[in-house]
Amino acid sequence: MAGRIPKQFIDELVTRSDIVDVIDARVPLKKAGKDYKACCPFHEEKTPSFTVSVDKQFYHCFGCGAHGSAIGFLMDYDHMSFVEAVEELAARAGLTIPREAGAIFEKDKDTGADLIEIVREAARFYRSQLREHPQSGRAVEYLKGRGITGEIAHEFGLGFAPDGWDNLLQALGKDDNSREILARAGLAVKKDSGGYYDRFRDRIMFPIEDYRGRVVAFGGRILDKGEPKYLNSPETSLFHKGRELYGLYHAREAIKRENRVLVVEGYMDVVALAQFGVDFAVATLGTATTHDHLDRLFRHAPDVIFCFDGDRAGREAAWRALENALPVLREGRQVSFLFLPEGEDPDTLVRKEGREAFLARLKQAMPLPNYLFDNLSRQVDLGRLDGRARLVELARPLLSKMPQGVLRQMMLDRLAELSRMDPGKLPVLAGQQQAAGPPKSATRRAQGPQEPPSIVRRAIALLLQHPNLAHQLKDEVNLGDLDLPGIPLLSELCALLKNSPGLNTASIIENFRDSEHKHHLSKLAFWEYPSQVEDLEAEFIGVIGRLGETSAKQKTARLLQKQDAGGLNQAEKDELARLLSLKSEHSRLSPSRH
Ligand code: CTP
Ligand code: MN
Repeated sequence: MAGRIPKQFIDELVTRSDIVDVIDARVPLKKAGKDYKACCPFHEEKTPSFTVSVDKQFYHCFGCGAHGSAIGFLMDYDHMSFVEAVEELAARAGLTIPREAGAIFEKDKDTGADLIEIVREAARFYRSQLREHPQSGRAVEYLKGRGITGEIAHEFGLGFAPDGWDNLLQALGKDDNSREILARAGLAVKKDSGGYYDRFRDRIMFPIEDYRGRVVAFGGRILDKGEPKYLNSPETSLFHKGRELYGLYHAREAIKRENRVLVVEGYMDVVALAQFGVDFAVATLGTATTHDHLDRLFRHAPDVIFCFDGDRAGREAAWRALENALPVLREGRQVSFLFLPEGEDPDTLVRKEGREAFLARLKQAMPLPNYLFDNLSRQVDLGRLDGRARLVELARPLLSKMPQGVLRQMMLDRLAELSRMDPGKLPVLAGQQQAAGPPKSATRRAQGPQEPPSIVRRAIALLLQHPNLAHQLKDEVNLGDLDLPGIPLLSELCALLKNSPGLNTASIIENFRDSEHKHHLSKLAFWEYPSQVEDLEAEFIGVIGRLGETSAKQKTARLLQKQDAGGLNQAEKDELARLLSLKSEHSRLSPSRH
């Protein structure tokens, strides 16, 4: 990967792209007043409540609450990663993505277009060799011996890399340039002495597709016994093992239908399962399951089932998957673990037992919370007080990885139960400070935008929906001092709009993509300001003015308290005098003193 994509570029991309075009190409939209509407693609409905705003460049479904920018739509609808969505929009807009210095230097020409072309050609070549090469009989025999039908081999595009050092090079490496591209694509290897040789020799070839079904890499299995059993393409600008999952593109419809996805360890497992009608399986590529994998999987289905061998290696892999899943475990998402009998893998098992028995096993998969507590409980003696204390210590770092929410709270409750501890006394988890005790603004937030809006909420909503109002902000309004819910967000928003004038609603929210405020902002983007308000500018000036008054009032109260408690220095005395004279101007400001 090259360096990070600069924030300014994302700003520009979102302000330049038209979300209506992006969505309309996938979900036909109808004009409705200023906005566009359609039946929501994210839930079943008969009357359209999915609304796309041209001004805000943001969509919102009043039925299910789905929302986002053009980037968010591509991520949710086309299951793209953030970077992929940015690439797609940039390509549409004819923009080149600049990369911040950092990470690995990437050659300009290495944009991937030439690689895609040659990898596709290579896939075609390997497939043809499985039919035509004089030695293809061995490969076909091998596949038959493993029970793979011609039909399924065709469906997965399996191929054959014949024995020899330059079969692929002969076919595709006509000149220096194409040989160099083959090497960059990981299909040929450059010798120290100059010259190239084929990376894959005498292997069954499994093409690996990316999220849009483009072949980006291969896994090659040796025909006979030999090392290594599997050889994979190296990391290239197209292929990142930690991101791709074998079979995901192929399985995407089935995953949608099943609303769940099965994650197995091997290429052969995916192919064999599909042959037996278990068509919603994908495989990691000889690596541990990463955050990126999970992120991607959860964009396809809310239910992820990992299937591991029952041996020690399998259990270790499962635990790593568990650790990586915790940070993305929000409400509505589930992870389960299925351990197979020793010596079996999904390939052998489904052939032995058949589809129904295999599906029945899936039903028995262990939910992540159970797996977590079972595993930890086995490491301690719950009959002992110090054993239960150890359980708390073991669970703490794991639970603190989880996002705050109901699920985490329930897991904490379970921990309290197992350790026989009063839930209120469980040591506070890292990053949970604000959540300890009922959060002040929780009820406010939960009720959604219908309640009478707080003054801070009004200010945020106005700025978010009409970013031009930021011109009205004067430097002397110092909101940072205010002690009101939402003030940190409002200050951040003001600072952003000062530094980057010209942002629209969607690009503002993109700036908060990784922030805890993102969800809140997204809701406010479509919050309807009370309709009696006609002059938004006057309204905004009024709101900011009232915040200024509240700030003065709070400061006065603090200073008076300090005066009572023992005294003010000269600067504070001057400040208090100034504030009190202001107070006499505004009538009803009476700090409560006894
Ligand atoms: N793998 C790998 N390199 C190896 C061995 C394994 O990359 N040398 C990866 C491959 O993605 C493989 C997966 O790990 O599909 C599982 O490996 P393993 O369980 O050893 O093989 P199987 O998938 O069972 O393969 P087969 O049934 O063909 O023996
Ligand atoms: Mn196997």
